[in-house]
Amino acid sequence: MAESDTSRRRFLSIATTAIGGVIGAVLTVPLIRYVFFPVGRRIVSDTADAIDVLDEKALKPGASPTRVEITASGVRNAWGVADDVALGAAWVRKTESGELHALSSVCPHLGCAIDYEPARSVYTCPCHKSAFQIDGKKISGPAKRGLDRLDATVEEGRVKVTWRRFRPDVSEDEKEIES
Ligand code: FES
Repeated sequence: MAESDTSRRRFLSIATTAIGGVIGAVLTVPLIRYVFFPVGRRIVSDTADAIDVLDEKALKPGASPTRVEITASGVRNAWGVADDVALGAAWVRKTESGELHALSSVCPHLGCAIDYEPARSVYTCPCHKSAFQIDGKKISGPAKRGLDRLDATVEEGRVKVTWRRFRPDVSEDEKEIES
């Protein structure tokens, strides 16, 4: 009788320890993942879609370019999905013939924000004085290429721009999209 009690107590002790171990492991794994998330994960932003930037009526053919902020909604990152994420800016205009034209405001030299001077109809960079024609071609300065053209369309009266950031300080031939 005493021996059977001892065996039962031993069995219960082992079973309790085993069950406790399993519960501990089950609780610990999510805790570790929570503490270390998102270490080791690549941050992903899906900006492949064209982004609504302004009403088409705001652009008159032949007028000066308009600077628009490129802000994305539903951008997926390591922590979830975020809205109103500032990606950059673009200069958009309509040519005399009505063609839509969008240029990145990121200087292709080292990435400063490009300004537009309406009096001279040129884009200029405040950092190292690169200058560009209204169509984006380089006039002068250390930039190795012209301003980067962005895809732009009109859908239901709204101008939409597809945002891309390109590798700086390389020629047009070496240019590639930065990830
Ligand atoms: S960053 Fe624009 S000229 Fe250098």
